[in-house]
Amino acid sequence: MEFIFATNNLNKVKEINNALQGNYTICSLKDAGILIDIPEPYNTLEDNAREKAVTIYQMTGKNCFSEDTGLEVDALNGAPGVRSARYAGDQANSTDNMEKLLHELSASTNRNARFRTVICMILEGKKLFFEGICNGTILRERRGDEGFGYDPIFIPEGSLKTFAQMDTNEKNAFSHRKKALDKMITYLNSRYAR
Ligand code: IMP
Repeated sequence: MEFIFATNNLNKVKEINNALQGNYTICSLKDAGILIDIPEPYNTLEDNAREKAVTIYQMTGKNCFSEDTGLEVDALNGAPGVRSARYAGDQANSTDNMEKLLHELSASTNRNARFRTVICMILEGKKLFFEGICNGTILRERRGDEGFGYDPIFIPEGSLKTFAQMDTNEKNAFSHRKKALDKMITYLNSRYAR
């Protein structure tokens, strides 16, 4: 069974492919020949995930899914959350975003945070949502070169390493995205597996 994964983020494609282990096939927007960047204009992960999936379903009529992820920091009342990609400004890159976050948290001893992923899958025209959460803490400095986004400053609960010090297999043992995907796969298996 094949799905279009509505993303241009190759790190996300790598993580999802690792998690799927070949049971379902995904193709990225680039693989599907869809060369657009879908905006994320809404105030919730759910609405942005829905927007991306619906856009691709309307263009292709094929089974597809999208995901939106935010880093929710307790001491910042859940920020940057849905604004994680643009935390330091519309043109900000990951380094800018991490620097802003570390600055905002510099006086805080409460370093608790979580990544939250919402997947919206459109299967035979029907929308379904799956959520995955990974609790952890924000470091005071960056560690590691793997991964992407805020990975170098986030240590998941139960680990001594940041996500950026892990390979994809290790990250997927903890990851928010993998947890949401596992729920989606459980649903698909219950519906289609013989
Ligand atoms: P989006 O889901 O692509 O909109 O991501 C929102 C922001 O969170 C971007 O800055 C991403 O780089 C970051 N982000 C999303 N997923 C992860 C992750 O698994 N680790 C670290 N940062 C992430």
